[in-house]
Amino acid sequence: MTIFERSSDGRSAYTLPDEDSHGFALEDCLPEHLLRKDKADLPECSELDVVRHFTELAEKNHSVDKGFYPLGSCTMKYNPKLNEKTSSLEGFAYLHPYQPTSTLQGSLELMFRLEKLLCEITGMDSYSLQPAAGAHGELAGMLIVKKHFEKLNDTGRTRVIVPDSAHGTNPASAVMAGYEIVEVESSSEGIVDLDGLDDLLKEDVAAIMLTNPNTLGLFEKHICEIARRAHEKGILLYYDGANLNAIMGKIKPGEMGFDIVHLNLHKTFSTPHGMGGPGSGPVGVKESLADLLPVPRIVEGDGEYTLSEDYPDTIGRMRSFYGNFGVLVRAYTYISLMGSQGLRLASEMAVLNANYLKSLLSKMIPEGYPGICKHEFVLDGGKLVTDYKIKTLDLAKRLLDYGVHPPTIYFPLIVNEALMIEPPETESKETLDGYSEIVKKILQETKDDPEMVKSAPHTVGTRRLNEALASRQLKTRWKKEKAT
Ligand SMILES: Cc1ncc(COP(=O)(O)O)c(C=O)c1O
Repeated sequence: MTIFERSSDGRSAYTLPDEDSHGFALEDCLPEHLLRKDKADLPECSELDVVRHFTELAEKNHSVDKGFYPLGSCTMKYNPKLNEKTSSLEGFAYLHPYQPTSTLQGSLELMFRLEKLLCEITGMDSYSLQPAAGAHGELAGMLIVKKHFEKLNDTGRTRVIVPDSAHGTNPASAVMAGYEIVEVESSSEGIVDLDGLDDLLKEDVAAIMLTNPNTLGLFEKHICEIARRAHEKGILLYYDGANLNAIMGKIKPGEMGFDIVHLNLHKTFSTPHGMGGPGSGPVGVKESLADLLPVPRIVEGDGEYTLSEDYPDTIGRMRSFYGNFGVLVRAYTYISLMGSQGLRLASEMAVLNANYLKSLLSKMIPEGYPGICKHEFVLDGGKLVTDYKIKTLDLAKRLLDYGVHPPTIYFPLIVNEALMIEPPETESKETLDGYSEIVKKILQETKDDPEMVKSAPHTVGTRRLNEALASRQLKTRWKKEKAT
C-alpha cells in the first residue's frame, strides 16, 4: 500500500501555528507568481499512519542489519553504528556548504586528513574526494587520462583496454569520456591473458582499466609486468578500487604500478549503500597527474584550510560542492578507529571468509575458476541446470524464502550461470555454515518438490517478477487514479 492510499481527507500529523501567532501569512512573503494555484496533492495522514507505513516498508526490505547479504562485488558489510553517530554530530550535519570557509575549518581539516589517509592506504600522492560514486570516480579518472594526453599533445590515443571480466561501469565510464573500448580476454586461470594483452598494447591506447583482485576474486599476479609493459608504451594504468577491501593494509595499488585510482568509500570504508546512494568515489593520482584533479581542492597553509580553484590544468568540477560529506565523516571515523592493523585484519578476514564459504559451497556447485580466491568467488551454475534441473535464478529466488540474500547472479558474464559470492569480513563462521546448509537444503528440495523451487519466492512480499517487463516498462511513479 502506498502512503497515498493511506491518505484520508483532512487528516494531519501536525498543527502549524496560525497566521495570527506569528503576525504574517506565508502568502504575503512570496511573490504572486510563485504561489501555487491548486492545493498540492499530498497524502493526508496521521503521525501514526506515517510511522506504520515506513516501518512496514523497512521490514519488507532485506538489509545487512537484518540478515546475511553476500552480494558479490557489492561488499555489503556491517557498518559500525558509531560511524552514524559521528556523521550526524550537529557540527557536521548542520553545516551549509555556502558558509564562509573560516567557519568550516573542522570539516575541511577532516577532509584534508582523509585525503592523506587514502594516499597512505593506496600509495598515491593526491586525492579528490569530490566524485559521488565509484562510477563517477571512474569518469573523473578517465577525464584525467584524457587531459594528460591533451597536455602532451598526444592526440592519437582513442582507446581504453578493459578485461572481459570487468564491472560494467568500467567500459561505460571510458565511453562517456570519449574512448573506444578494446576488450582483453581472461586466460584459463581467470586473470588477464598477458599474450593477448601484448597484442593490444598499441600507440592508440590511452589506458588500461583493471581491478585487482578482479571480479572473479582472483589476484592479477602479473600486475607489475602489466604495468611495466603499459608504461613502456606511454599507457596509463587505472585501478578500479572497488575491490580494495581484499588487499588494504597488505599491498598498495600505487606499488603495483597504478597511476590513477578510484575507491568506493561506501563499500570498503563502511558506509551503508545500495538503493542509489549516497556514495563516494574519491579519485587518487600519482604526483605527475595531481594538477589535473577536479577542483576545488582543499589547501592547507599556516594551519588554515581553504578551497582553491587555482589549478589551470584541472579537469574541472565533477559535482556541486565537495563530495557527499556524511560518507566522508564515516570513512574517516572507520579508518581512524581501525588503524593500519585493523584494516589489514579486515582484508584478511574477508579473504578467509570467502575461501571458507567457497570450500563449503564448491562441494555442491563447482567453482568458476579453481584455486585460492581473495574477498569473493564465482561458482559455475551449469551443474544446477544439468543435475538439479533448475537455473541459477531459481536458487537465488528460493534463498529469499530462507531470509538470506542471494549472491549476485549472471555476472561476471564469462562464467556460465554465474553465482558471485562475497561474504564480507564482518560475518561469523556460524552464518557461513548456515548459508551452506540452506543451499544444501534447496538442492534437496529440487529433487523432492522441483516446482516449489522453480516458483519461489513464497514467503516474501513480492512473488517472482517479470524482470524483462520491468526493465522495458519502467514505472517509478505512482499515479493517483482519477475519480470517476
Ligand atoms: C568492481 C566494481 N567497480 C565499480 C563499481 C561501481 O561503483 P558504484 O556502484 O559506486 O558506481 C562497482 C560497484 O559495485 C564494482 O563492484
